[in-house]
Amino acid sequence: MDPGTILVTGGAGYIGSHVVLQLRSRGERVVVLDNLSMGFRQAVLDCPLVVANVGDRAQVLAVMREHGVDTVMHFAANTVVPESVADPLKYYGNNTCATRNLLKCCTEAGVRQFVFSSTAAVYGIPKEPFAEETTPTAPINPYGTSKLMSEWMLRDVSAATGMRHVALRYFNVAGSDSQGRIGQSTPKATLLIKVACEAVVGKRKEIAIFGTDYATPDGTGVRDYIHVEDLAAAHLNALDYIRAHGESIVLNCGYGHGYSVREVLASVERAAGKRLPVKEQPRRAGDPPTLVARAERIRAVLGWRPRLDDLDAIVRTSLHWEERLQREPW
Ligand code: UD1
Repeated sequence: MDPGTILVTGGAGYIGSHVVLQLRSRGERVVVLDNLSMGFRQAVLDCPLVVANVGDRAQVLAVMREHGVDTVMHFAANTVVPESVADPLKYYGNNTCATRNLLKCCTEAGVRQFVFSSTAAVYGIPKEPFAEETTPTAPINPYGTSKLMSEWMLRDVSAATGMRHVALRYFNVAGSDSQGRIGQSTPKATLLIKVACEAVVGKRKEIAIFGTDYATPDGTGVRDYIHVEDLAAAHLNALDYIRAHGESIVLNCGYGHGYSVREVLASVERAAGKRLPVKEQPRRAGDPPTLVARAERIRAVLGWRPRLDDLDAIVRTSLHWEERLQREPW
């Protein structure tokens, strides 16, 4: 029997749109559901798009039935950590409650395969620099908590109904489509590589280094930066895994090694061929010194083989995209 359609929520957003591109290029049937609050209509290219909220049960159910959906990939979420601290109910509403409604629709429409976009933020500030899937979860902000609660709902729904899911805990995602079709367009970005690229193209005055006195090799924070195309590929591997009746599982998605803020900024300077205006600042609240994935499990279970594990390659594609946005804003 032919596989059914994949419903991609948040498919017009940064990560979702890269996954949609890869799904479509291998001939999968896809329908995107996005309310366009953060996403962009043009990011889905020619993929069918339904403009709606994930929390709108009547509409979600209608889309599932009309398109013969058998798999959901759920990216739609708010993702800005400081905003989640200031407005937690927005995050519990749009992330946790909306996921609950989506799961309810899945049970009613007989959707039995689910890939969930989770986050390393569920670990909070782990005692060890490396986070394993078995590291205790202890989110320190409502964003991380809202995602962890969704993981728990998925676990329980899968156990009760026989649905199978893969929850991918992303580390620091960056980069953009190598062919330059789509990229990270999120306004008011706070993530390091995006902000540094904005600074080097002149969209910002300077880039701050938050903390230079950490117990790390050069005193700045260390993170596991992963190229969005490798991350997207992990979702296709996850799809193949659940289609082959793999058991529900939670997997870290990172490369398993990290770079410091200074190393990232040096890479941006190399890519741009010019110096960045840098300002050293005190530590940012809630930042762990080092957060790097233990990422053996995803390779072993999904057979995931990253192809772009190279900071300069990540940064180059981010910068190309930023330069394009300067020329033609989305
Ligand atoms: C952030 C989220 C995290 C989420 C992840 C992916 C926070 C506190 N954390 O991770 O929960 O899972 O995105 O969405 O928002 N830095 C600077 N200057 C900047 C920006 C960042 O020095 O202008 C430093 C940070 O201190 C950190 C590193 O760069 O050491 C990476 O920061 P960032 O890109 O914001 O991601 P995380 O905070 O690691």
